[in-house]
Amino acid sequence: MHNKPAVLVSRAIFPEYLELLRQHFEVVSNQADEAWTRAQFIERLQGKQGVFTTGSERIDADLLAQCPDLQICANMAVGYDNFDVPAMSAAGVVATNAPGVLTETTADLGFALLMAAARRVSEAEAYLRAGHWQRWSYAMLSGHDVYGSTIGIVGMGRIGQAIARRAVRGFDMRLVYHNRSRLDAATEASLQATYLGLDELLASVDHLVLVVPYSPAAHHLIGAQQLAIMKPSATLVNIGRGGVVDDAALAQALQAGTIAAAGLDVFEGEPRLNPALLACKNVVLTPHIGSASEPTRKAMVKLACDNLISYLTTGRALTPLN
Ligand code: DGY
Repeated sequence: MHNKPAVLVSRAIFPEYLELLRQHFEVVSNQADEAWTRAQFIERLQGKQGVFTTGSERIDADLLAQCPDLQICANMAVGYDNFDVPAMSAAGVVATNAPGVLTETTADLGFALLMAAARRVSEAEAYLRAGHWQRWSYAMLSGHDVYGSTIGIVGMGRIGQAIARRAVRGFDMRLVYHNRSRLDAATEASLQATYLGLDELLASVDHLVLVVPYSPAAHHLIGAQQLAIMKPSATLVNIGRGGVVDDAALAQALQAGTIAAAGLDVFEGEPRLNPALLACKNVVLTPHIGSASEPTRKAMVKLACDNLISYLTTGRALTPLN
């Protein structure tokens, strides 16, 4: 006989955090990291008060109707486009995400992609590995400067602002940004950031970094029409979410030389990629690793666990979305 709440952990996690959860809950986990179908996920959710999710498991009205015991869904990601938050609120289920703990790590990756795309790092490595480097030549693999150039950041939340600090303080860049709501004057001044409308920003930047969460309103925010406004020497980086960029239009723009290069960590329909992107030499591709350093991934897992523990033992979530 036990009276601990029951929790499901949907994917493999660091074992020490599974142990932490076991101190408070009856835990069913997926340490084998099996690819459960939605039906299997729902089946395993039966009788569970809490679920640890990674950002991939869709929680919507249909699932909630089949899981009447569920009280909290704790995402280890800051993004929560896998949650239908209004449906969760209607069902009285708390949603939590993992803000703050991955800001700097994700900003680092954004900057890495920016530099790799602008300076053609992947293309240069492929050239070298293929044995094409027989002689040096003056214009060989020349790219575009980062230091002292103009960066445009679309999505000026925590991660956007962390990229802004790197750009202005480390690389002496001119910074323009676009956001749903304008930053307050003090934050703008401390970041040396100038607010622009999207089209004006697109026309003026050397490097565009997108840190926009997915929502139907942000679907294909950057498509053929927007890419056509950009400089042919410009680079585009997307570390926000797939679907914010029209990947087919981007591949076309990269092939046509409408823009010079791109660095992408997120994709429409990932983990599948638009094959046209794979065919482009001038794009650096990473498999959604923005937050992937061990300390950061541990902090993300810990925050999701702490949300489950706090809510199911005291009734208060640490980082609630509803
Ligand atoms: C997030 O936290 O939303 C990231 O995309 C996952 O790495």
